[in-house]
Amino acid sequence: MKRLLLLLLLLALSNAVEINGGGSEGQCKYKRALDPRPHSVSILEFGAVGDGKTLNSIAFQNAIFYLKSFADKGGAQLYVPPGRWLTGSFNLTSHLTLFLERGAIILGSQDSSHWEVVEPLPSYGRGIELPGGRYRSLINGHGLRDVVITGMDISELLGSVWWEWFSSHSLNYSRPHLVEFISSIDVVVSNLTFLNSPASNIHPVYCSNVHIQNITVHASPESPHTSGIVPDSSDNLCIEDSSISMGYDAIALKSGWDEYGIYYGRPTTNVHIRRIHLQASSGSGLAFGSEMSGGISNILVEHLHLHNSLTGINLMTTRGRGGYMKDILISDVEMENVHQAIGATGQCGSHPDENFDPNALPLVDRITLKNVVGINITIAGNFAGIQEFPFTSICLSNISLSVTSDPTTSWVCSNVLGFSEYVFPEPCPDLQSSYSNSSSVCFSFLYSNGHAAVL
Ligand SMILES: *[C@@H]1O[C@H](CO)[C@@H](O)[C@H](O)[C@H]1NC(C)=O
Ligand SMILES: *[C@@H]1O[C@H](CO)[C@@H](O)[C@H](O)[C@H]1NC(C)=O
Ligand SMILES: *[C@@H]1O[C@H](CO)[C@@H](O)[C@H](O)[C@H]1NC(C)=O
Ligand SMILES: *[C@@H]1O[C@H](CO)[C@@H](O)[C@H](O)[C@H]1NC(C)=O
Ligand SMILES: *[C@@H]1O[C@H](CO)[C@@H](O)[C@H](O)[C@H]1NC(C)=O
Ligand SMILES: *[C@@H]1O[C@H](CO)[C@@H](O)[C@H](O)[C@H]1NC(C)=O
Ligand SMILES: *[C@@H]1O[C@H](CO)[C@@H](O)[C@H](O)[C@H]1NC(C)=O
Repeated sequence: MKRLLLLLLLLALSNAVEINGGGSEGQCKYKRALDPRPHSVSILEFGAVGDGKTLNSIAFQNAIFYLKSFADKGGAQLYVPPGRWLTGSFNLTSHLTLFLERGAIILGSQDSSHWEVVEPLPSYGRGIELPGGRYRSLINGHGLRDVVITGMDISELLGSVWWEWFSSHSLNYSRPHLVEFISSIDVVVSNLTFLNSPASNIHPVYCSNVHIQNITVHASPESPHTSGIVPDSSDNLCIEDSSISMGYDAIALKSGWDEYGIYYGRPTTNVHIRRIHLQASSGSGLAFGSEMSGGISNILVEHLHLHNSLTGINLMTTRGRGGYMKDILISDVEMENVHQAIGATGQCGSHPDENFDPNALPLVDRITLKNVVGINITIAGNFAGIQEFPFTSICLSNISLSVTSDPTTSWVCSNVLGFSEYVFPEPCPDLQSSYSNSSSVCFSFLYSNGHAAVL
């Protein structure tokens, strides 16, 4: 008995992946102590008017410029009192806390000329929606360190005019996001509501140490292609205790597009997502890709509640992407009213231009889903790998879905290999290799208490 336990433990240890060195409970354990900033100024001191009509871009820009001088004095807070603060896009600075008082609403301007147009991201090579540049986000951080956006109540943006421009193809550049951090370190976003973003709500790209906590993100189900949080070529992220409902994907992990993403080569890795409510009307609650050319790995997702969505959890890629999606563990998921619970496809997404390498095939390996219950699900799972390079080690354990379609056809598989145990309805034969010798290939995490979450 002892020897068996020891053997199991050894197996567990050899199999477990450590995050951030030492045993880990995932990235959310690393919470930065947030000391109050020694200096605070109100946006009122820069002539801002919170009547919902006066344009405050210059006030925000001047306030941030002034607060730059506090960077080496412990940083500063920009206080936004109650009111409707209309603005075009503006930049943040390092060692800054942007604090929205209860009742403070930062309103994005409905005039596209108030949004600067900037170069595309190098890992995409062009705007995602249109070739060429893209509009700068409403709130931007570029090359920053130690930035907090927080509040007591809601931050709102009226995005509907962007949605109309998008749907009527009258945009000249790709749509902006609400908040974007580029190449920034130590970022916190918390205690806020994000409404009606033009495209994505929070887009950290080439960032490290990002903590997103206790936020509500919402856009109407009809809003075209709106996304919630999009970690992109970033590492050491925590997203927790939040609620996101979107027209398209609620959370989407990405890492660049075809030859541009492969060349840039920065993965999204060490991401911990927990205690999140997700809804995605015409997309996925939790999406991986389809832009993933820099790779996506070491992702721990726990305690998701997904409802009224087209797809629950979806891995998307295509030929030409290169990169990988591997070492992903998703556990303790509840789903309700979801058309397709689980998906993985190798035939999804377009290319930035004709110069992609069709032989750059993406690796999809060591994806584990366990402890999933679902009610009112139409299709349990659809796995469509790439013929020359099938998806491997797809591990399903303890999954119970109440499916409204014929249970014998509720899983669809091609070019995929994996393991399963205690899965209902019974998955396709391709996923039915015995679980008994799966422990070396199914992904698991080692918790710091020495308890290994091996399947
Ligand atoms: C915002 O930051 C970007 C990148 O650092 C810079 O190019 C741009 O001029 C800044 N805009 C303003 C209004 O300060
Ligand atoms: C796109 O460009 C055209 C021509 O310059 C302009 O009339 C139109 O207003 C622009 N669209 C937007 C949404 O800015
Ligand atoms: C979450 O944010 C709200 C404000 O949006 C705040 O009132 C509440 O105390 C926060 N809760 C936690 C646990 O941080
Ligand atoms: C968010 O609100 C909670 C509860 O009021 C507070 O403990 C926490 O410090 C706030 N977060 C930030 C970053 O201010
Ligand atoms: C079942 O889920 C579908 C969405 O997939 C939804 O349209 C339908 O209303 C749900 N049925 C019930 C009884 O909730
Ligand atoms: C199976 O999943 C259910 C629902 O997520 C959970 O309550 C139960 O504890 C799991 N069983 C095992 C053996 O882990
Ligand atoms: C189980 O392990 C044996 C020995 O390592 C191996 O030959 C076999 O292919 C494995 N079975 C599966 C389904 O992976």
